Amino acid sequence: MNFPNNFTWGAAAAAYQIEGAWNEDGRGPSVWDVFSQTPGRVFENHNGNVACDHYHRWREDVALMKELGIKAYRLSLSWSRIMPDGTGAINEAGLKFYDELIDGLLAAGIQPWVTLFHWDMPQALQEKGGFLNRDMADWFGAYATVVAKRLGDRVKHWMTINEPPVIVGLGYQEGVFAPGLKCTHQECLLAAHNLLRAHGSAVQALRAHCVGPQQISIAHTSREPIPATRADADVEAARARYFGCVEERMWNLAWWADPIAFGKYPEEGLKNFAGKLPKITDADMALISQPIDYLAYNCYSGFKVAANDAGKAVDVPNGHGIGNARGTLPWLSIAPDAIYWAARWQTERYNLPIVFSENGFCNTDFVQLDGKVHDPQRIDFVTRYLDAVSRAIADGADVGGYFYWSILDNFEWAEGYKDRFGLVHVDYETQVRTPKDSFYWYRDLIARNGALS
Ligand code: NOJ
Repeated sequence: MNFPNNFTWGAAAAAYQIEGAWNEDGRGPSVWDVFSQTPGRVFENHNGNVACDHYHRWREDVALMKELGIKAYRLSLSWSRIMPDGTGAINEAGLKFYDELIDGLLAAGIQPWVTLFHWDMPQALQEKGGFLNRDMADWFGAYATVVAKRLGDRVKHWMTINEPPVIVGLGYQEGVFAPGLKCTHQECLLAAHNLLRAHGSAVQALRAHCVGPQQISIAHTSREPIPATRADADVEAARARYFGCVEERMWNLAWWADPIAFGKYPEEGLKNFAGKLPKITDADMALISQPIDYLAYNCYSGFKVAANDAGKAVDVPNGHGIGNARGTLPWLSIAPDAIYWAARWQTERYNLPIVFSENGFCNTDFVQLDGKVHDPQRIDFVTRYLDAVSRAIADGADVGGYFYWSILDNFEWAEGYKDRFGLVHVDYETQVRTPKDSFYWYRDLIARNGALS
């Protein structure tokens, strides 16, 4: 495997999934507090009240990151820790927490890559409609301003919002994630538009208030169509499907990425969703299409498609094979071609460097009798995906970095704590951290800049 010399090797996590301290030092409630504390919403009614207790143990966690040798750590900020009601009053204790964490990371030689919003919307703003409210762009811009003024002298890498299709699709449409709504497609298109406007507003705020040059993006994701073969017809059909706007579910990547990159929604979606679209003004599109510096992309798995006689992509039943290799979450089939094609196609369409802001493997890892956590399947998974990234780079993709998800086992949203993604095992009863075999493997791989030996 070959990677550029300046490749960013990282690991990631998000506030609600690791911090805990849900009601300490003035933090306001978020939609995920309300959702997870509502019986029946999350596996075995787990919640993020304590999680990995990272709020109190961050120094130990940063020391682990230093040992791992990552160049960058992707974290998210809890909006309601900084602004308990989402707007207005600022909670100094919340800002201080991130201020010290950023300093701790920099002292350890690790660049902080900060996501402003990773799903934990202040509950007070959800009660005003959340992304259904057009004012969200102003609220999010004001929050980004507060953050930029405090952290923007040291943070150089930003992502505004994590995984828009999951927020709107799973949170607003299917209701299986917070805030648990069952909105119509029409309402979801409005939420999507306001989310994109909020993104643009945050980009403007970061540009205005950070010191020095910034690298700003949004963390996209999608369901990846993977060509069943390398035949041109299959590849073209899969590519068209990837950038198509054919689903009423919110996964259509181009619906999210084109407005930012090109200042307009894709024609296919405008046609397919006609009659349900929100009011879209030129000013909205100008706001949404603030220039960004790179594409952040979270990539895990995909589904196989093949071209039919008309050249259209059709799903291949059991495309990964019956009893195929996969993680403990049902959607995590091992499909390294997903990351290969994501890298190539996005480079071609958007002409920006790509950073894989998440990729990782979940299992039921546990501390074994020898006191260690042996996780050969995770090592195998990451090897396959990084090999695919390396091949994509050789084939012309512009990939600048890779963040393993996640540094620690953590709260996997509606799945609670049952599926473990970490390089470090967390015993949630004792908060003892045990680096897994994959931690040491990744450490050595980073030291060799990705060469296998
Ligand atoms: C995507 C999300 O951004 C992250 O929060 C989640 O834990 C991982 N994928 C794994 O599902």
